[in-house]
Amino acid sequence: MRREVFALQLFFLALVHGALADQAARLLEFSRSRMEIQYDQEDKAVHVSRHVDHQLYMSPQDGLKEADKVSELPGQPGRADFDQYAGYVTVNATSGKALFYYFAEATQDPSTKPLVLWLNGGPGCSSLGDGAMLEIGPFFVNSDNKTLSINRYAWNNVANMLFLESPAGVGFSYSNTTSDYNNTGDRSTAADAYTFLTNWFEKFPEYKGRSFFITGESYGGHYIPQLANTILSNNNITSASIINLKGVAIGNAYLDDSTNMRATMDYYWTHALISKETHLAVQQNCSFNGTYMAQCRTVLAAAEAEKGVIDPYNIYAPLCWNASNPQRLHGSATDVDPCARFYIESYLNRPEVQRALHANTTGLKQRWSDCSEIINPDSWKDAPASMLPSIQRLISSGVSTWLYSGDTDAVCPVTSTLYSLDILDLPINSPWRAWYSDDNEVGGYVVGYKGLVFATVRGAGHMVPTYQPQRALTLFSSFLQGKLPPE
Ligand SMILES: *[C@@H]1O[C@H](CO)[C@@H](O)[C@H](O)[C@H]1NC(C)=O
Ligand SMILES: *[C@@H]1O[C@H](CO)[C@@H](O)[C@H](O)[C@H]1NC(C)=O
Ligand SMILES: *[C@@H]1O[C@H](CO)[C@@H](O)[C@H](O)[C@H]1NC(C)=O
Ligand SMILES: *[C@@H]1O[C@H](CO)[C@@H](O)[C@H](O)[C@H]1NC(C)=O
Ligand SMILES: *[C@@H]1O[C@H](CO)[C@@H](O)[C@H](O)[C@H]1NC(C)=O
Ligand SMILES: *[C@@H]1O[C@H](CO)[C@@H](O)[C@H](O)[C@H]1NC(C)=O
Ligand SMILES: *[C@@H]1O[C@H](CO)[C@@H](O)[C@H](O)[C@H]1NC(C)=O
Ligand SMILES: *[C@@H]1O[C@H](CO)[C@@H](O)[C@H](O)[C@H]1NC(C)=O
Ligand SMILES: *[C@@H]1O[C@H](CO)[C@@H](O)[C@H](O)[C@H]1NC(C)=O
Repeated sequence: MRREVFALQLFFLALVHGALADQAARLLEFSRSRMEIQYDQEDKAVHVSRHVDHQLYMSPQDGLKEADKVSELPGQPGRADFDQYAGYVTVNATSGKALFYYFAEATQDPSTKPLVLWLNGGPGCSSLGDGAMLEIGPFFVNSDNKTLSINRYAWNNVANMLFLESPAGVGFSYSNTTSDYNNTGDRSTAADAYTFLTNWFEKFPEYKGRSFFITGESYGGHYIPQLANTILSNNNITSASIINLKGVAIGNAYLDDSTNMRATMDYYWTHALISKETHLAVQQNCSFNGTYMAQCRTVLAAAEAEKGVIDPYNIYAPLCWNASNPQRLHGSATDVDPCARFYIESYLNRPEVQRALHANTTGLKQRWSDCSEIINPDSWKDAPASMLPSIQRLISSGVSTWLYSGDTDAVCPVTSTLYSLDILDLPINSPWRAWYSDDNEVGGYVVGYKGLVFATVRGAGHMVPTYQPQRALTLFSSFLQGKLPPE
């Protein structure tokens, strides 16, 4: 039994405004496909033995760094005050698999700043199109699809930012063995990202041993703890400290199949998107234990229908109706252009942009798209039902672990993270309080647990920095410094 009426109805809602290709829509598709597939709930090995148990692929990278230097991006507003690089790192020479990265060094004193990897989710969505160009990178694409503007709140103000298109099949990343695309899941994604990193450090040896952090959002709730645990296991085996992992921060994380769906329904109800009667029917007909009976599916579909066609990733945001008719400018806190991802897609498909980025050097068949059409959530090979054991392992290894939530997202809502925290049941070191950003507004709320920090970002949707750039940068700076955001 594959997708049936229930799922189709939901898909239709997402399709109405043409948003199916984006990261959050992708996650909806994924979580719904999970209702029909029973994964092995006891996939414990995934959390424990994450060392790369094959021969790690290493290739000489001497001199390749300079070849990857991007002198200027087409449409860039003046000279950049930082160095940027882009290109491929081969992760399997036999199959011809290579991952694409974009690297923006810090604007000041890059040699003293930490190295931060950013990973978007999906599964199958691009950290270049979403992370770099929509959220935290140095440039955003204007509505003419050709020119760029400066992001004042770019995260390379405080760190060296590395964006990875992962796994192969996403964005410009590819494999010459196309059957690889059908054999992709959490395990292969983590193993390839690890191989990418070890080779990338050969290309940029000055970053070996540098304080290293992994950040991202959404299905990054799977990618990030898995990659972090892979690094820990391998550091343990090789006793090498090339990858000096200090911390992870995950925004609106997809961590647990069951709590996420229950939390979404509770979020709808507490945000006046569905009726009391429907919420009650959901509570009475769904057990949220991994099994979705027919009655439960019916009431879930009713809840989706009641909610109407809104942007579930920011329930208060407008929709994009016509990308040729821009309404608002992107990049400031209050006026986010809902059509921005169309400009990005158009920009990244320009041949001169691809040349400047050293991308698509082998003439890929498919166009660049925000979320891959060849890496499909329906054919995703493996994923544990819950990432909480992985999170626990990071905490017990002393990795600084932050979970943050934009509070207007209904897809991986703040309630979902709160329910996951209930399950983790960590002692509280620093009780709930408001935190403030530079403009003296409450940026959100924060709780310090033993080994974990949870923070909300007030008025932010699924892509937190897109909607609250200033608050997101304040939070990120605190995370890097290892202290709670300002009182
Ligand atoms: C590389 O690809 C080949 C061919 O697909 C495969 O047999 C091999 O296991 C892969 N190596 C690694 C390290 O994944
Ligand atoms: C993939 O194939 C193309 C064309 O043969 C080749 O130029 C490229 O180097 C291959 N990619 C990898 C990662 O081996
Ligand atoms: C991958 O899977 C799709 C859908 O099941 C199928 O159409 C396609 O032929 C497969 N591709 C390869 C290279 O195996
Ligand atoms: C590191 O290795 C030791 C000894 O094999 C083991 O007890 C420990 O659990 C390992 N730690 C991690 C984080 O893998
Ligand atoms: C989930 O709950 C339903 C209804 O209470 C029950 O029939 C089913 O066996 C449960 N499934 C699991 C995996 O616990
Ligand atoms: C849901 O549960 C209530 C109370 O148990 C019941 O009256 C209602 O018919 C159920 N809804 C569906 C669609 O089965
Ligand atoms: C920008 O790209 C979008 C999506 O392809 C398109 O709808 C729009 O018309 C383009 N705008 C301009 C000014 O070319
Ligand atoms: C979108 O906007 C453009 C430019 O204003 C206009 O020419 C076009 O007809 C609009 N398309 C739709 C479907 O409304
Ligand atoms: C790569 O370039 C080819 C033209 O050589 C183009 O048709 C294709 O859309 C491009 N693909 C990507 C992912 O950029």
